[in-house]
Amino acid sequence: MENFVFHNETKLIFGKGTIDRIGGEIKSAGFKKVLMLCGGGSIKKNGVYDQVIASLKNSGVEWVEVWGVKPNPVLSKVHEAIEVAKKEKVEAILGVGGGSVIDSSKAVAAGVLYDGDIWDAFIGKYTVQKALPIFAVLTISATGTEMNGNAVVTNEKTLEKFAVRSKALYPKVSIIDPLIQASLPREQTVYGAVDAIAHILEYYFDGSDSLAQNELSEGLIRTVMTCTERLLEDPNDYESRANFAWSATLALNGLTAAGRRGGDWSCHRIEHSLSAIYDIAHGAGLAIVFPAWMRYVWREKPEQFVRFLKKIFSIEGDGEQAVLKGIEAFKGWLKKVGAPVSLKDVNIPAQDLDKIVDNVFRRNEPLGNLKKLDRSDVRKILELALE
Ligand code: NZQ
Ligand code: ZN
Repeated sequence: MENFVFHNETKLIFGKGTIDRIGGEIKSAGFKKVLMLCGGGSIKKNGVYDQVIASLKNSGVEWVEVWGVKPNPVLSKVHEAIEVAKKEKVEAILGVGGGSVIDSSKAVAAGVLYDGDIWDAFIGKYTVQKALPIFAVLTISATGTEMNGNAVVTNEKTLEKFAVRSKALYPKVSIIDPLIQASLPREQTVYGAVDAIAHILEYYFDGSDSLAQNELSEGLIRTVMTCTERLLEDPNDYESRANFAWSATLALNGLTAAGRRGGDWSCHRIEHSLSAIYDIAHGAGLAIVFPAWMRYVWREKPEQFVRFLKKIFSIEGDGEQAVLKGIEAFKGWLKKVGAPVSLKDVNIPAQDLDKIVDNVFRRNEPLGNLKKLDRSDVRKILELALE
């Protein structure tokens, strides 16, 4: 196991009927006026908006609203919200929605206190050290953003989808009421599951060894898989929503990262290029890339892949045949729950591969931890993802 520091800044409030606590949390933290950032309108249909507004009113917190954050959130909306936040002199940012809304809230919170263009933080020209306080009401469990310091935004002019990380970007308080995720479209539950599993696997397959972390990771993956299958049968199954939600938070809040080597993150970077160029859902892109990456790199640490396939898919054996059979089983599960598993499934043609590779290496940064990947490696992974 590697040395580590585990320090998470976020207070998490979890469970049925907890949304009405948001106003009190903001008030007791000493803030009187917030900018409330929202997505495309799902929160008006499922009652979350009304619950948040009632809570803000009851606590005497003023708010201004900015709507229209889209999935794969874009920089122009972040700029728009920064202007509103400055003009209205808000003291904190409240994101009500999924990863896209909360990531944008983080970018806005940092952008308000930065004189330049906040995109500088995404391209490494500015290190975020301060941000307005961030509060979050999460409506879809997937990214872990509710309890981490990451934000991912797309510059729609350059088609660059980059991430920023900072201690200043941990939400001060996040609320997760799993009940309100019953309104999620089927495919969003599936994409959330794939994203949570992918976060766990990025650390699991980074070349490190730790029995505690392996066991923890496998338990979380099995939980997400079981709950996903149950939720596809019954979207209102509260216990499954709750166990899924908590597992997805734990997948990227530092817990599964402890004692590891920082994660691999190749699949995420390749996926971010897919969602930047084609605007597909993040979880959909990961379902396409992950099995292909596994097939390409498993020989770097075969025993970890053998372990994973045995623990999750009960595949016995430790040779190439067993590993390939196991990866097919993973792909089979993704297919079964309705995720795309090939670039063809989302209509990305073979002639686009070089364009995707260019995008992956846009920042000219090294890629991969378990195996360092260059352009030709990524091209070969994408070729496998076409099958
Ligand atoms: O916009 P609305 O109308 O709210 O609809 C959303 C959106 O269409 C809908 N939705 C959310 N909650 C709902 C609901 N519909 C009905 N009922 C509900 N309760 O779901 C759709 C997807 O929302 P989005 O916020 O895009 O999903 P997600 O949470 O998966 O976020 C994905 C974004 O986060 C980034 C991804 O790249 C992507 O841009 N990531 C962020 C990370 C982080 N901050 O740590 C890490 C991840 O690896 C990832 O990169
Ligand atoms: Zn992810």
